Parts: sequence; C-alpha cells; structure tokens
Amino acid sequence: MNLDLENYDITVVGLGYVGMPLAIALAKYFPVKGFDINHKRVSELSKGWDSNREVPQAQIRTSSCNFTDNIDDIKGSNIYIVTVPTPIDENNKPDLGALSAATKMIADILKKGDIIVYESTVYPGVTEEICGDILERGSGFKSGVDFFLGYSPERINPGDTEHTVENITKIIAAQNDDVADLLTKIYGSMNGGRIFKAKDIKTAEAAKAIENAQRDINIAFVNEITMLLNKVGVSAYDVLEAAGTKWNFLSFSPGLVGGHCIGVDPYYLAETATKVGHKSELILAGRKLNDNMGEYIAGRVDRYINRAKKVSNAKAKILVLGFTFKENINDIRNTKVIDLVNSLKEFGHEVDIHDPHAVVDDVKEFYGLDLLSSIPSKGGYDCIVLAVAHQTYKDMGVGNIAQLLAYDDNSKAIIYDIKALWRKEKMPDNVLYKYL
Ligand SMILES: NC(=O)c1ccc[n+]([C@@H]2O[C@H](COP(=O)([O-])OP(=O)(O)OC[C@H]3O[C@@H](n4cnc5c(N)ncnc54)[C@H](O)[C@@H]3O)[C@@H](O)[C@H]2O)c1
Repeated sequence: MNLDLENYDITVVGLGYVGMPLAIALAKYFPVKGFDINHKRVSELSKGWDSNREVPQAQIRTSSCNFTDNIDDIKGSNIYIVTVPTPIDENNKPDLGALSAATKMIADILKKGDIIVYESTVYPGVTEEICGDILERGSGFKSGVDFFLGYSPERINPGDTEHTVENITKIIAAQNDDVADLLTKIYGSMNGGRIFKAKDIKTAEAAKAIENAQRDINIAFVNEITMLLNKVGVSAYDVLEAAGTKWNFLSFSPGLVGGHCIGVDPYYLAETATKVGHKSELILAGRKLNDNMGEYIAGRVDRYINRAKKVSNAKAKILVLGFTFKENINDIRNTKVIDLVNSLKEFGHEVDIHDPHAVVDDVKEFYGLDLLSSIPSKGGYDCIVLAVAHQTYKDMGVGNIAQLLAYDDNSKAIIYDIKALWRKEKMPDNVLYKYL
C-alpha cells in the first residue's frame, strides 16, 4: 500500500454534525469532497452556511472542500469516510437504513484499492459483517483484498468548542496494518497525531458503544438517587455537591438525558447482547430510568403547583425555558423536554415554550409545537420550568425571569429549576423555588 498521502482523495459521505466539521478539518491537508443526499443541505453548505452552526461561515468559504449531492463528482475518490445517521427505530432497535444505503452507493463506484472508513456509531460487527458484505455484493470485489475497511468512531459533542475533531484523540482500526498506518497518518495530520490504534475493527466499534452506555448508566444512577432523595426531602444537587468533595466520587448531574448519542447508543450495545445471547442486567436499565425523567419531573412540578395554589388538580400557565437536547445548541433531535411538556399538558396545564437556539419552524415540523419566538415582556405565568441551562437564561438572571411570574398574597408562583442554575441565588418573596 502506498503511504504517500499525496495519492489520496477523500470523500466524506454524510455532512451532518459529524461529517461537516470532519470534511472541513481534513480539507486543510487533503483533497476532500463532501457528499450528502440532502440537496438543501448541500446547497446551503456550498454558500457557506452550516445550519447546525458547527462550522463558521468564514471557515466554510475559505475551505477547499467541495460539496455535492451528485455521485459522479465523487467517483474519483479512493477513501470514503461514512458519517451518516445510525438511529433507532420505533422499537428501539438499531436502524441501519442510512448506513446500508450509503454503503450500497459506494459499492456502485468502488475501485480496486479503495478504502472505506466508517465513523457512524454501530455495534461490533457492523463494519465488516454488514457493510463489508454489502460492498462485496455490490462491487463484486473481495473485502480485505480488493478494497479495505476501517473504523474510527466519532466522539465530538454538538456545541462543544473545546473537544473538537481537531483536538480529541481518535480511535483508528482497520483490516490490516498498512491501512491502519495510512489512516493514522491521515487523521493524525488534522488532530496533532492524537491517535489510538485499536486492536481491530470490532474493538473500535465496541469502544464507542460502551463510552456512551457508561455515561447513560452513571446518569441513570444519579437520576434514581434524585428520586430517592426527593422522597427523603433533600436535594440531589446539594447531596452531590457534598459527595463530590471526595477524591474519587464521579461527577454526574441529574436531569433529562436526550440527544442522539447517549439516548441511542445503549440500544446498539443491547443489540450486541441480544445477538450473542447475553442476558444484560444493566445496559438498558439506565435507559428506562432516564427515559422516564420527563414524566417524573412533570409530576413534581404538578405537585408544587397544587401546593402553591392550595388546591388539588390546579391548572397553571407554565413557561418552559429551553427545548434543545442540551445547552447552547440548536439540536432538537431526541430532546427529552418534549416528554416533560407532554406530561405537563396531560395534567391539564397550559404550556408555553421558549428556546433561544431552536429553530421555530423545525420544532413545528418535528414536534408540532409552536415555540415562542421571544421571551414575553409580560408573562403572567404561574410556574416557570428551567429545562435547559442556555447561557441566555444565565445572563438574564433569576430576577428578570421571576418578573414573568404572576402571584398574589394568597398564592405563590413557582420556579422549578431542573438544572439547579439558581439554587444559590436569593429568590423574590412569594416565589416557591424548587430544584431536583
Ligand atoms: N452528532 C454527534 O455529536 C455525534 C457524536 C458522535 C457520533 N455520532 C454518530 O455519527 C453519525 C452521524 O451523526 P450526525 O449527528 O452527524 O448525523 P446528522 O443527522 O447530523 O447528519 C447525517 C447526514 O447524513 C446525510 N445522509 C443520510 N443518509 C445518507 C446517505 N445515504 N448518503 C449520504 N448522506 C446521507 C443526512 O442528509 C445528514 O446530512 C451517527 O452514527 C451518530 O450516532 C454523532
């Protein structure tokens, strides 16, 4: 294999949160094309606009990366890096539809000697057994002989400007040492050589699947003790702050666990357990607990509303602050705030939602909800629930937020602060302030 990097022409297939920053980073060192089947996305990127707001306009415009949705434009490439979605279906089973479609497309244009690297999150075995098979059948070539497979899981985190694709350690694995060496050189060029060469492709696939499953379980533990501690009458945040002073206590916070990684990857790991006949005790236990947090929190909020209004079955006007799956990003996929909102509505409350980052039209399209386009100047809310700790809300401060509440001498208004953002601040009189 020729390790001379000048011979390589790369296509990144799938230009989303993962593929787009990767394509731009690699294009600083190699000829790179970015391919996506979404015409609108390609057209926006070609004009320098990343609607995910991961790559700034100036960087896209000055990049040598070309964006296309035309397969003819990528036929000359000899390395394909696949970064398409790997979600779960309605039964929480891995949905490999996009991965298979992208692989079939590559099979149609495959040449001898080409390398296909998968970055999409998968369960162990998918790259070689499923994608390798699709490539063999589509091209008539032999995997590991005529073309070569690699796997390099992506670890970036939407909106995280500290742990970017250019400064985090990349796991690399390939079918043979030559390909692994080549990929080490390629990826190493853009991330300062922070490469860990995994033993083989299955090992790298498994490493990714357990990273997020581990986080899920840890957060689930904290969510469970939150429920327990609430019954005891103490706050989980206060307890965790105290326990966190021990040198080996792990730091996790309670709350809604959404997104398309932590909320999805455990199901990929569970699929492995099913396939090999292993009865897992723990992997999905956390998911079940975390998936119920929206409903649980809504129940707490409803209880405080009844207490504040001094009646049972009180109906309140509630403002939920934040809709995205985490702070300071516009990603609404798999947000668990929707569970909270739906549960509050089931209690009969009227719910308004504001988010400074979520795109109003997207929320309407995917969830059928009308977001407030701005924070109302006069609120008149009985209760405000802080669901996502966006910087906007931190900057506003609890004093300004509390102005949106309506209360009188007979009844208190409520701030339910899921993220415990204001737990050390002085609250206005007549505000019942609660956090997990
Ligand atoms: N978003 C993250 O922070 C993150 C982090 C680590 C790993 N991952 C994993 O990376 C993969 C990609 O995630 P993402 O968040 O970038 O997804 P995304 O939805 O943001 O982007 C995927 C892109 O792939 C395109 N696409 C779909 N099918 C295609 C096909 N057949 N051919 C070409 N393009 C196609 C879509 O149009 C979309 O633009 C997933 O497996 C995900 O689990 C994501």
